[in-house]
Amino acid sequence: MAERPKLTTTAGAPVGDNQHALTAGPRGPLLLQDYQLVEKLAHQNRERIPERVVHAKGWGAFGTFTVTNDISKYTNARIFSEVGKKTDLLARFSTVAGEQGAADAERDVRGFSVKFYTEEGNWDLVGNNTPIFFVRDPYKFPDFIRTQKRHPRTNLRSPTAQWDFWSLCPESIHQITILMSDRGLPQGPQYMNGYGSHTFSFWNDAGERYWVKFHFKTRQGHKHYTNAEAQDLIGKTRESYQEELYGAIDRGDYPKWTLYVQVMPEEEAENTPYNPFDLTKVWPHKDYPLIEVGEMELNRNPDNYFAEIEQAAFSPSNVVRGISFSPDKMLQARIFSYADAHRYRLGGHYEALPVNQPKCPVAHYHKDGLLRFFADNNPPDAYYEPNSFGGPAEDPKYLEPPLRISGDARRYVQHELEDDFSQARALFEMFDDGQKQRLFNNVAEAIHGVPEEIFERQMNHFEAVSPDYAKGVRAAVEALPAKDEKMKTQMDMDRMAVHPKQGG
Ligand code: HEM
Repeated sequence: MAERPKLTTTAGAPVGDNQHALTAGPRGPLLLQDYQLVEKLAHQNRERIPERVVHAKGWGAFGTFTVTNDISKYTNARIFSEVGKKTDLLARFSTVAGEQGAADAERDVRGFSVKFYTEEGNWDLVGNNTPIFFVRDPYKFPDFIRTQKRHPRTNLRSPTAQWDFWSLCPESIHQITILMSDRGLPQGPQYMNGYGSHTFSFWNDAGERYWVKFHFKTRQGHKHYTNAEAQDLIGKTRESYQEELYGAIDRGDYPKWTLYVQVMPEEEAENTPYNPFDLTKVWPHKDYPLIEVGEMELNRNPDNYFAEIEQAAFSPSNVVRGISFSPDKMLQARIFSYADAHRYRLGGHYEALPVNQPKCPVAHYHKDGLLRFFADNNPPDAYYEPNSFGGPAEDPKYLEPPLRISGDARRYVQHELEDDFSQARALFEMFDDGQKQRLFNNVAEAIHGVPEEIFERQMNHFEAVSPDYAKGVRAAVEALPAKDEKMKTQMDMDRMAVHPKQGG
């Protein structure tokens, strides 16, 4: 047998005994001098970091992006510079609401994050498996998430809170319709599409800007569970997505997606009948057809889940030359929020962790603080900028063309400007009878038992999409068996809170 490496302390000294504590006699007590034991226990206490405040449960893998079609007239991003070009990447998929220990097969939106390690820095596309979102204003995001998490009093998930919020935010109806449809419960990461969701922009060497949406289409086909199938599965395994993804890559069955873009010339944004920067809206494919760009393949499992997936830090602020933002208010808020989350969750220099490290030279002037474990590559006298000592310097060729904005600074009341129902109606009308019935059933199971006024407020939104939608949901709710009175669910408790028993 090959000789085993020597066990050492973290300071590198070989360890003589890793089985028996140092004690005053055979029965104890311990001696504080046994520093290795103290260190072992102290390390264990520090093995957890805060989980992500949303998207805590996730599954990830490494892979390759290959360009299959030339889109360099729209963007000078190096990743798209020539057909056949390959770029390494990391993908992380997730549910939104569940904590790290949540079951995988829960009905929820799925996160779809990709970090492209391009030759000019990391580009992160931090999207979902849906092309749109529940709300269009960042003021609503923390409240929305709170309704998806646990009730502060009971520590249970609260359908009342969810439907209360949704029924007060009619712009959510489009996304609710996707969430409650077949696509709301995929069988695994490889059986769903991914979307950048927001409108981003491309810019080229001529200084032209195009608005762009990103779509990853699964090559494995869409596969979904019904609620009943998922319930049964969760009884057998809570880790079905990890098993699906890890297992497929482990046996060489590499999942693939085709990346497409929709491209809109800058000036056209003034003339579309919908706001092209509204995250609750899609761009119709007949107006902006999908243009193929390349292929994403996942082909390597992480060696260490914590180091490579839990410590992965994705941020919509990570764009590279040729790719940029749009006026979308939600996207603008996300530009701040993610890096802030990483500095809290991982520490100041989180981008120096191996999984987040760019695969191109990095040269900046950020100095000290947590996670400062990497060497300083700048000349020793160049520790400020500008300097005369050969430190890294800016290059105007990377300057993005101006983002043209117009208007006056105020808080726009978006409901008066936007149509919340037409696109949800178009989606509803695309469903066949079976899909519609499953949609009604899924909504019914989720909304059954919420307080009457919330239920009726939400029914008005279904009605505004289509009277058939409202009728179908109402019939599905009526067909559900009566609740077991002995089961005190969160909804029952909420009902009591809204309508407390007189004198009870
Ligand atoms: C104003 C709106 C939003 C805010 C403030 C926000 C904020 C956050 C925060 C703080 C995290 C945790 C980051 C971490 O600790 O690593 C997160 C994760 C995530 N968010 Fe958002 N989010 C917003 C909207 C969205 C939207 C619209 C999408 C999809 C289109 C999205 C997709 C994701 C994904 C996929 C993750 C997990 C990233 C990963 O895999 O590590 N978020 N979000």
